[in-house]
Amino acid sequence: MNNSLHHEGKEWILREEGWSEDLQNVRESQFALGNGYMAMRGILEEVPVGAQPGTYLSGIYDGMGSLVEELVNLPNPVNIRLVVEGEKLGVETMDVVEHSRVLNLKKAILSRRTVFRDRKGRHYDYRSLRFISMARENVGAFQVLLTPLDEGCIIDINTGIDTSVHNRETITEGKKVHFRIKDIAATRAINYLAVDTLEKRHTIIYWCGVYFLINGRKRTHKESFFSTRLEKGRPLVITKIFTLKHFPYMDDPSRAREETLKDFRKVFRTGFDYLLSEHIASWGTLWKEADILIDGDEETQRRLRFTLYHLLICAPRDRGFSSIGARTLTGEGYNGHVFWDTEIFLLPFYAFTLPPVAEGLLRYRYNRLGEARRLAREAGYRGAKFPWESAGKGTEETPHWARDLDRRIIDIHTHKREEHITCDIAYGVHRYYTITGDERFMEECGYELLVETARFWASRVVKTERGYEILKVMGPDEFHEEVNNNFFTNAMVRHNLILAWGAISRLKEKAPPFLEDLRKRLNLREGEEEEWKEIASSIVENRRKDGVIEQFDGYFDLRDVRIKGVDEKGMPLMPEGLKASDLPKTQLIKQPDCLMALYLLGDAFSRDEKAANYRYYFPRTMHRSSLSPSIHSLLANEMGDHKEAWRLFQMALNIDLDDIYGNTENGIHAANLGGVWQAVVMGFCGVRIREERLHIEPALPERWRKIRLVLKWRGHRLGLTVSRREVVIEKGPEEEGLEVWVFGKRRIIGSAGRHRFVNPRTQQDRRVR
Ligand code: BGC
Repeated sequence: MNNSLHHEGKEWILREEGWSEDLQNVRESQFALGNGYMAMRGILEEVPVGAQPGTYLSGIYDGMGSLVEELVNLPNPVNIRLVVEGEKLGVETMDVVEHSRVLNLKKAILSRRTVFRDRKGRHYDYRSLRFISMARENVGAFQVLLTPLDEGCIIDINTGIDTSVHNRETITEGKKVHFRIKDIAATRAINYLAVDTLEKRHTIIYWCGVYFLINGRKRTHKESFFSTRLEKGRPLVITKIFTLKHFPYMDDPSRAREETLKDFRKVFRTGFDYLLSEHIASWGTLWKEADILIDGDEETQRRLRFTLYHLLICAPRDRGFSSIGARTLTGEGYNGHVFWDTEIFLLPFYAFTLPPVAEGLLRYRYNRLGEARRLAREAGYRGAKFPWESAGKGTEETPHWARDLDRRIIDIHTHKREEHITCDIAYGVHRYYTITGDERFMEECGYELLVETARFWASRVVKTERGYEILKVMGPDEFHEEVNNNFFTNAMVRHNLILAWGAISRLKEKAPPFLEDLRKRLNLREGEEEEWKEIASSIVENRRKDGVIEQFDGYFDLRDVRIKGVDEKGMPLMPEGLKASDLPKTQLIKQPDCLMALYLLGDAFSRDEKAANYRYYFPRTMHRSSLSPSIHSLLANEMGDHKEAWRLFQMALNIDLDDIYGNTENGIHAANLGGVWQAVVMGFCGVRIREERLHIEPALPERWRKIRLVLKWRGHRLGLTVSRREVVIEKGPEEEGLEVWVFGKRRIIGSAGRHRFVNPRTQQDRRVR
């Protein structure tokens, strides 16, 4: 096993020292591996008691036997049972003398070393290494190396594909298995398994090959279990290579079986070492696009790499077959469902870094437009209404109720009220278009999405003497479940309507034949877009008090309670005497709501407005959602509140590394990954889009000397180096000139190469000194 893997720089390493049963499930989420097509939780290979193995394929959901569709926990190829004379080698069955694991974030390799001691006091050195190939989406591999240190022994080996896995147990549903075995076979060294999801929407084919090195001789075995004798000091090496591929459900998988076997044979012949080296090379290429280098802060660098790593392992490249769930592919929290987290929190990272991934995320919505239209129709509206929680089919998958820990039934209202998802998607479409300039996507999907979402809102608003109102909604702040004229929703709807109107107006000028075709396809009346504009201009304005925007009608009349202190993790404490059930009667909020709109629609608000609202809402925000700290950090930075910006950034950065919400075991918080990226890039580096133009105005934390990163902007690949003193932009050889606003000044960059812009403020400072 390659020792050089352990010698990566500290800022690339996530380490576990010692075995802790309590932390087992948290570590499984943190140490997960994946490539956007498949992912696996970082379980120990012996699958200790309490382990939660999770093998997931992006977009593979099933709803049979559960309240809603959920990400299917598939058979686990990473399991290995080694037994010495009746004693299992495992952290809970033998004595653990030493134990450490390392996730090498640069190479996406998980390695382990454990020294076990058996009942008789004999020691065993156990090492393992595994990866899911970034070079071939269907391939994963691992190697285990076991050396008896004190004397030879007889060992029983059992390593198949473990089908005894199940989805997370819940109070009302119990354990759930979402697949059935369709076909299984073993030839010499190779195992085959085909499973169907229970609703018969998918067939998944596994191939798995194993070979052994025993006392220096290479061997294969027909069976996946056998006994052998090991000599003292001579390692047993088990190498396992597997492929997984999903297909639309097939009654008869024989053709797919043949094809996948051919592919598997090639992979198996390629061999472990080569697969590993091409995997490392692919990660090298990926890091060139996605890495952010912080000069001057090694620990934050390491933690940021953890964030970037997780953003990269969950990125699907399947053109909209799947999207990214609220807990990525690292756990079953929120059943793997897709929320606004994707378009609002995650999309900017992908659009600026890996545009085809961002495009796929939006195509995921487009591919489910039929369902969204049905949802709108069923609710009595026009256009398309996207589900609050979406999974495979695109139907509304929010559970309508749940039983809490006291076994009480609680109703869930988010699917009925959190309608802002629909304008969030329109916002995402426009953001993607602004960043990439991808006209083809707009023609194939984007314009239709804008039109259908605008149509929905045009039928959803209610005309009263106040103007157009949006009644009975829930904003991002879920403490207040049913409100009228939520500012965030109203503002984003207005934006949605204007975007759609603007798009049609532009097409009138630019592409009349395309517009004509679009009108026909969507039955879009001549002049319909003018109605959107009219509605947008008269959506009711929320009340304001000293520049503070009222979050919804009547919010200012609620009990004004403020946060007094935070706990050791930085989390606001519930004010004394208040119970969770009192929250709706107070002005305390779960996460940014008004402030979220002020951030997303930054152009429309002055600095003073932002400052007034920031001052008001900040002491009333409980950060009970992981979506909260990153956005607050960003706004704090913009407001010049650098201390808070740093504190909240660190909190966001550590949400899953320190398990701040106590539920990392259910998977990594996807939105927060994107939020952290935005806090660094939009916050500290000051990369903003204003009036569809790229602005760069850094406000770096004191302890950082500079930041380097790559951004894609309308076909350009820009290398940015940002410090307090200057911004350096390295432009590639693309033919077109680049317009960019640096430190508030318009610049046109024509030629390839490095272009340096000095911060006029620091120049002045030096002159004064
Ligand atoms: C938040 C939502 C979020 C969801 C999934 C909830 O707790 O309030 O804004 O979309 O989690 O991450």
